[in-house]
Amino acid sequence: MKNIAVFASGFGSNFIRIHQNITKGVIQANLSLFVSDQKDAPSVNYAVNQSIPLYVFNANEYTNKRDYELEILKHLQEQRIDLIILAGYMRIIGKTLLDAYPHKIINIHPSLLPLYKGKNAIQRAWDAHEMKTGVTIHYVDEKVDHGIIITQQELIINHTSVDHLTEDIHKIEHELYTKVICQLLEDMI
Ligand code: GRF
Repeated sequence: MKNIAVFASGFGSNFIRIHQNITKGVIQANLSLFVSDQKDAPSVNYAVNQSIPLYVFNANEYTNKRDYELEILKHLQEQRIDLIILAGYMRIIGKTLLDAYPHKIINIHPSLLPLYKGKNAIQRAWDAHEMKTGVTIHYVDEKVDHGIIITQQELIINHTSVDHLTEDIHKIEHELYTKVICQLLEDMI
């Protein structure tokens, strides 16, 4: 079985769903490492409670991205990670990790990229009175929310509130990420 790592900085609903689907056997892989840059994030708490191998770092303790990514890389290599899944990881991936894992780092974003890159994508699409938005899963490159698109799923905006829209986006994210991860793992065999 392939070994996957999930990186997150925040709540971790995508991370939790991935873990649940691994436990259920829907995703056939080992969740061999969880990486976070936020020691107090709920996702870290979840990893601790579920005994998922964990690496938490504080970027402020390093002089540059290369130094903390070399440390991350050590952990990834120790766990023989095959695929890296970003799930709300709020840092740009640098050359160190990109070179070590070409086409093996993926990200999920709550918009139809290239629209609404960056933070608060759902709110910004809502504020702009868009007719539709959606979810994008893409390979990661050196730019924010950029890289070859693997898949996108559209959602018509006919919601009564941005909270309701957000809920629907997350539902799509949780299902779509699992589907894509299963497909990529299959392709790697
Ligand atoms: C998701 O909306 C994802 O698309 C974006 O960050 C958010 C993370 O949410 N990259 P969660 O922490 O998985 O709940």
